[in-house]
Amino acid sequence: MNTQIVKINRDDFSDAELLRAAELIHRGGLVAFPTETVYGLGADATSADAAVKIYAAKGRPQDNPLIVHVAEAEDFFKYCVIENEELFYKLCLRFMPGPLTLIYPKKDIIPKSVTGGLDTVAVRFPAHPIARRLIALSGVPIAAPSANLSGKPSPTRAEHVIEDLSGRVDMIIDGGECDVGLESTVVAVKGDSLTILRPGGVTYEDLKEVTDRVEIDENILKKTEMTQAPASPGMKYRHYSPATPLFAVKGSEERILTLFRRELKEGGAVICCDEDKAHLVGGHILSLGSSADLKGQAKRLFDLLRTIDTLGANAAFTRLPPREGIGLASLNRLLRACGFSVLDADMLVVGVCGQSGSGKSAICSRAAHKKGFVHIDCDEVYRQIIERGGECLARLTEAFGREILDAHGRLDRKAVSKIVFADSEKRQLLNKITHAYILKEVKERIKDARLEENIAVIIEAPLLFESGFDRLCDLNVAIVADHSEKTRRIIKRDGITETAALGRLRSQLSDLEIIARCDCVLENNGGVMSISKLADKLTSFISSRKQ
Ligand code: TXA
Ligand code: MG
Repeated sequence: MNTQIVKINRDDFSDAELLRAAELIHRGGLVAFPTETVYGLGADATSADAAVKIYAAKGRPQDNPLIVHVAEAEDFFKYCVIENEELFYKLCLRFMPGPLTLIYPKKDIIPKSVTGGLDTVAVRFPAHPIARRLIALSGVPIAAPSANLSGKPSPTRAEHVIEDLSGRVDMIIDGGECDVGLESTVVAVKGDSLTILRPGGVTYEDLKEVTDRVEIDENILKKTEMTQAPASPGMKYRHYSPATPLFAVKGSEERILTLFRRELKEGGAVICCDEDKAHLVGGHILSLGSSADLKGQAKRLFDLLRTIDTLGANAAFTRLPPREGIGLASLNRLLRACGFSVLDADMLVVGVCGQSGSGKSAICSRAAHKKGFVHIDCDEVYRQIIERGGECLARLTEAFGREILDAHGRLDRKAVSKIVFADSEKRQLLNKITHAYILKEVKERIKDARLEENIAVIIEAPLLFESGFDRLCDLNVAIVADHSEKTRRIIKRDGITETAALGRLRSQLSDLEIIARCDCVLENNGGVMSISKLADKLTSFISSRKQ
């Protein structure tokens, strides 16, 4: 389909400029047009076929009902049954035309294909001059969802619409940037009470000025399962999502900034406020505006969600706005955009390091028995990556030859040890190849632990500093033991000679070198302090640093 793009000046236009668009709507065509909230994809709301066309162009599930747009407040009475007229007129006087959508029982003139099979209809009287005039000239009410492909952020500029719908609709009217930037507030009216099904430009506080009886549907800030039937079908679909994985971040100010800094260094993008920017450097930093300007933030939100995908960032991290005023609407959109993936920035990442035989595995795994503590053993991660075969194993075979594989084509760790033990260059090559894969996996596990709001992740890494994994950590803990004790434990555990055990210890950072880089030292010579006591010491040290 050839999509006509027409530029119209919202402050100065004539009916002649809108006639073609009005005619298209009247004859069952699809026209995207600006409203004060977001761009809408319009079609004749009295035509069942037109609605079907909208669903097809957007790739939208057919049970998600459309909003019917009217040119005058009085037109509500043509399409829905309004019992409490007094309340309706109060809402009209205060908020119309504007970003408020009201749901009432529908009249027959609105086909069920428009309302997703429901007996109610959502109606809105928009304030944008182009939208109002277009509806009036069309001579029919206009059904219009946001003019984006289903799942993508709603369009706040014509370029966004062109990106999504060019070739799928008859016409796109470019009327500049939308004022509100988020979709209208959807309110179900029953008797004398109002329930907000989707927060938007008209806020809870605004509605409270008109009536005391305002409720907020509990699903607004909750994940709705696909099997549930929410009051507003739109709630159950993934929405507003960029293609780049997006994570929201919560926690104390300082810890959020720490997380942002770390992720910027790792190639992530950050959505923050102007005030944060002074504390961040480099990378992809996108600001929603001043933290006090909730309206400005709402207006920029969708545009930034689209911008993320143009940066080439591996992931994006965003602050969450407060629940007050229009902040509630931004919060609702952001939670859906990130699929409710909220990272806890307050969770600590703790690196634990120590020479072979220091007993770090025993202490760390014991510490992870405590609720809220997660143990990541880098050796175990390495083993799992190798077992999976795949890319890492292929690169190792390429570097060291097929002699590192056993008869089944799996990695023979002993053969690898033999090759790299005597040759420090080869050892470095091995580490360079494997650490990248381990790092990626460790980062994923840290993210999962943050999603579950744990107290801390304990990364047990024999080469914590050499591998650079310490950059992921907020704290580092050293586990030390007497040289003779470590030698004895290695011989017993691995069945190797004393010479081999001593050689292994010599190749590692010494206890003194490790201590110099750590925030806490635990001494494990057995005897007085048992493993479980040391594990308790580790967890209490971490907990004390959390406050
Ligand atoms: O600001 C807006 O409302 C924009 C502009 C274009 O006007 N339109 C818009 O439409 O956002 P759409 O289709 O993207 O969102 C309509 C929302 C959906 O969440 C839908 O589930 C809900 O309104 N809705 C529509 N009719 C409903 C009904 N009868 N009962 C409950 N929810 C309804
Ligand atoms: Mg939408």
